[in-house]
Amino acid sequence: MFVFATVTLALLIESTLSKQPSAPEAYASPLRDLRFGQLNFLHTTDTHGWHAGHLLEPSFSADWGDYVDFAARLREKLEAEGRDLLIVDTGDRIEGNGLYDASEPKGLFTFDIFREQHMDIICSGNHELYQQNSSENEYLITVPAYASSYLASNLDILDPNTGELVPLAPRYKKFTTKNQGIRIVSFGFLYDFNGNYNNTVVQRVEKTVREAWFQDAIRDREVDLFVIIGHAAVRSEEFEIVYRAIRSVHWDTPIQFFGGHYHIRDYRKFDTGSYGLASGRFMETIGFQSIDGLSTNTSRSASANPTFFRRYIDNNLYSLYHHSGHNESTFHSERGRNITEAIGEAREALDLDRTFGCAPKDLWMSRAPYPSNNSIYSWLEQEVFPGIVSDTRRVDRPRLVISNTGAIRFDIFQGPFTKDSTYIISPFTSGFHYIKDVPYTKAKHLINMLNRGGPIFENVDQSYAMWKMAPPEQIGVKEDIISSDDKNGHSQISLSDDGRNSLTPGYTTHDDLGNDGDDTIHSPISFYVVPNCIQSTINPQPNSINLDKDQDVVVDVVFNEFIEPWVILAFRFLGLEYSDDDVDQYMPGDNLTTLIAKWVAENWKVNCKV
Ligand SMILES: *[C@@H]1O[C@H](CO)[C@@H](O)[C@H](O)[C@H]1NC(C)=O
Ligand SMILES: *[C@@H]1O[C@H](CO)[C@@H](O)[C@H](O)[C@H]1NC(C)=O
Ligand SMILES: *[C@@H]1O[C@H](CO)[C@@H](O)[C@H](O)[C@H]1NC(C)=O
Ligand SMILES: *[C@@H]1O[C@H](CO)[C@@H](O)[C@H](O)[C@H]1NC(C)=O
Ligand SMILES: *[C@@H]1O[C@H](CO)[C@@H](O)[C@H](O)[C@H]1NC(C)=O
Ligand SMILES: *[C@@H]1O[C@H](CO)[C@@H](O)[C@H](O)[C@H]1NC(C)=O
Ligand SMILES: *[C@@H]1O[C@H](CO)[C@@H](O)[C@H](O)[C@H]1NC(C)=O
Repeated sequence: MFVFATVTLALLIESTLSKQPSAPEAYASPLRDLRFGQLNFLHTTDTHGWHAGHLLEPSFSADWGDYVDFAARLREKLEAEGRDLLIVDTGDRIEGNGLYDASEPKGLFTFDIFREQHMDIICSGNHELYQQNSSENEYLITVPAYASSYLASNLDILDPNTGELVPLAPRYKKFTTKNQGIRIVSFGFLYDFNGNYNNTVVQRVEKTVREAWFQDAIRDREVDLFVIIGHAAVRSEEFEIVYRAIRSVHWDTPIQFFGGHYHIRDYRKFDTGSYGLASGRFMETIGFQSIDGLSTNTSRSASANPTFFRRYIDNNLYSLYHHSGHNESTFHSERGRNITEAIGEAREALDLDRTFGCAPKDLWMSRAPYPSNNSIYSWLEQEVFPGIVSDTRRVDRPRLVISNTGAIRFDIFQGPFTKDSTYIISPFTSGFHYIKDVPYTKAKHLINMLNRGGPIFENVDQSYAMWKMAPPEQIGVKEDIISSDDKNGHSQISLSDDGRNSLTPGYTTHDDLGNDGDDTIHSPISFYVVPNCIQSTINPQPNSINLDKDQDVVVDVVFNEFIEPWVILAFRFLGLEYSDDDVDQYMPGDNLTTLIAKWVAENWKVNCKV
């Protein structure tokens, strides 16, 4: 049984509350407009608990209450013109922000907040499925909240009451839009994920598309548009399979895909009648898609000639006011303010603003080169790990501490480092493990294997794919956006001589339609590739143990639990046969999250001005 507290949606009378009170004002930046069509979509993906918005970044400072108001204002405007608006979310709503992670049980507040937004099509991500209780929350809370909209085309769950394997939600749906009468058949997929707990079953997409119900659904002739949503990259093999399956039956019926998972903005052209939109991550982006030229109930045509339009909206009030044609006094509703208020109360109840220390400067995942003084990874390697990774039973032992770079999820900004920051930076539950007394002559090669041994590993089994250890954003990054100018990521480029229109750094997306997808015109941010893993070498007795000269010196190899399979395989290639039985917990009860918090409390308190 799950007991969920009801969030009090208290209203501040006469309040002008919008966004979270401490969130910064958005910059007035030059914007590209939306182009509305017969059918319009708003899309979020990989929100990962960031429903309070970004409290330290003006570009992304609107919250979920503001988004609810944006959808409502846009709907009023579009419906007055006889157009339709559909709202889509493609999963990974949980894990990655204190608003979700800091409560016990997790998600105590976020389910009630999230479901205040109407959804027309919604599906699960992989994060909802790592644990039995999080997938059961989907089944028992989110699916019923979106009874006719939640789709699970290739996902089953063991019903916690009956023990039977059942579809998490309906496999697909057919519906007709309210104003244009556009007939839509929609599916909701999850990529071929296999890291789920055993109470859910993810069926491979290639198998699902061969099933009778799917083949029947795509043979429907009374369809004006297929809408495929999925927690999958728009360039994934899985979407390609669905695309080909539909095209083999309908050579030109328009198909719109909505995807995510890679945390990037992306737009893929499948053909002139089929496109796929990916709308970023962490409530930074609201994806906008419109389609014109569809067959409707006033103009049914066998062969439509659709036109597609995409825009990536920076999630801040300046953008939301502009695109909805409203301003501060007309945009907000009591409903939206109630949600904003509920988010603020949840943050307060969870004490998310409690400050452990203050960061003396920004530390970047990919905006600064690694190694460098502004790299979060160099900071971990040179300061945090040597300062804090030490098990009381093994204090005097020399050790190698290895972490995958994907264990870090976000940048650190100069200023207060709060309880919320700890969850934002490292939301993963796993702790550190270690193998003791490994000959240093072998152990010292481990880091190179993990960073450069890709082909060797992947020959063994695709599940050892090396990119899984790096941050997900890096997978989707194309070579051409790796720039080396604007090294500090901060410089501002002026458009005009008087500086009135100076651009702020931010997303400058390149996709299949070019460079004009972002709503806000930004100066580019540099992006540097990071290795799969980083390492600290810690020698507590440098005077009696010389790692490089002593031939038979042994070390503890400490690593985060997530990379254990790679570590064991790498040692096998290095001639050391270890198994999971040789692995033990290191600093049990602690994990990267708690260790960073302790280090910050010990070392960064002094930076806070009281
Ligand atoms: C799942 O169970 C763990 C362990 O009891 C708990 O810490 C966590 O909060 C639970 N998560 C959810 C989503 O209920
Ligand atoms: C088109 O469909 C909409 C929604 O189903 C309906 O309200 C409208 O009356 C229909 N119009 C015509 C001309 O059939
Ligand atoms: C699922 O895994 C647990 C161990 O985590 C095991 O006890 C249980 O039997 C497994 N259930 C099924 C259906 O395989
Ligand atoms: C907001 O828009 C309304 C209606 O267009 C207008 O009357 C009002 O003056 C505007 N308020 C502000 C603060 O711009
Ligand atoms: C907002 O919250 C107040 C106080 O809980 C409640 O009375 C009111 O009905 C809510 N309004 C909306 C539109 O949800
Ligand atoms: C990095 O920081 C260290 C210590 O503060 C300093 O000595 C060094 O010069 C810095 N390096 C660069 C490239 O700024
Ligand atoms: C890290 O460990 C602490 C203490 O055991 C636990 O409360 C916390 O939930 C863990 N962190 C994460 C992100 O799971």
